[in-house]
Amino acid sequence: MRKTKPQRTLRPPVENEKLTEWVQRTSTRISPLVNVTLPPLVRTVAKYSETLHVGRTVPAHVSAQIPVRVHRREAVSPDGSVASLVLEHVDGRPLPRWFPGAHIDLTLPSGLQRQYSLCGNLTDHGGNLTDHGRYRIAVRLITDGRGGSSEVHSLREGDTLTVSHPRNAFPFAPVGHGDTGHRKIRFVAAGIGITPILPMAESAQRLGLDWTLLYLGRSRESMAFTERVEALGNRAVIRADDTDGTPTIRKILGRVRPETAIFVCGPEPLIEAVLKKLAKADQVEVHFERFSAPPIVDGRPFRIVLASSGEVIDVASDQSMLDAILAARPGTVHSCKQGFCGTCRLKVIQGEPDHRDSLLTPSERADGEILPCVSRAGQTLTVDL
Ligand code: FES
Repeated sequence: MRKTKPQRTLRPPVENEKLTEWVQRTSTRISPLVNVTLPPLVRTVAKYSETLHVGRTVPAHVSAQIPVRVHRREAVSPDGSVASLVLEHVDGRPLPRWFPGAHIDLTLPSGLQRQYSLCGNLTDHGGNLTDHGRYRIAVRLITDGRGGSSEVHSLREGDTLTVSHPRNAFPFAPVGHGDTGHRKIRFVAAGIGITPILPMAESAQRLGLDWTLLYLGRSRESMAFTERVEALGNRAVIRADDTDGTPTIRKILGRVRPETAIFVCGPEPLIEAVLKKLAKADQVEVHFERFSAPPIVDGRPFRIVLASSGEVIDVASDQSMLDAILAARPGTVHSCKQGFCGTCRLKVIQGEPDHRDSLLTPSERADGEILPCVSRAGQTLTVDL
């Protein structure tokens, strides 16, 4: 169970227009998921991230599970591979508000936990940031996946499950809003990566910002929410590989001018290509969210010892500690596999961890906590398992 500790109460803004001003008054910590090179927005995004519970220290009311019912289920891609669920509180009361880029943890009837971005339209009802008090998610069916998407696709209207409060590891801070700079926003979404990006683009449209969206997919048939994207007008461009060809990173990015912020969500090769291409770009920010675990960089093999049994588990250089543990203990609790949900946390009893997560605070690390889905060690670690 997640440990919680008191956190100061911060009131989110009622109107998106006040967001920049609001975040500038609030917190201080930079989200490690965000790669930014323009200082003012670093502060803005960081403040927004912390306030919206990026990170593992969340107040008790936020860590509580919310019982919800599937209000509506529909296919949102022509080939039916993407199902969208609209979830409502079982009591009919409005669900907690959320902001573009937020995700929720779903606890499925089988007990599986999965994270999905919220993708409702926040702007189609007079600025009511609760999206009519319901949550919309969209999930692509991965038949050879880990089972979460199949179970979501098997849900029917009226089925019940629980969700977490929204959290945001990919916050959209309206660049230049309330400022004299002429900053541009470029959204790049590939496949199901449209889910966090679409509410951002809709918000940017509503705020009158200077933005564009490039939405990529293998085929038009497989792409979700194309009608919603087209409703945004000619700032949004849809490209399908089967009709337009697979784009190069040069075609995807084109010329990126200084004072541009790029928000990208898609498969790992796209994220890596964007990061590589813009590594030295002047005054360009890149904000990204991955679908899956980040690649292991400089991985070396090491061993873990399970304190309860003395069992020794070898972790290969290209394997996560969590995957090595799962091979031996398949029931080990985990969820995001990306170091941001905290579900897999373990206590180190002996040894020096190499922390690679974006979640644990210095005091938690000093206390021996580790997230084995992303963190490693240079030597043997004994863990409380
Ligand atoms: S599984 Fe989410 S932090 Fe490890």
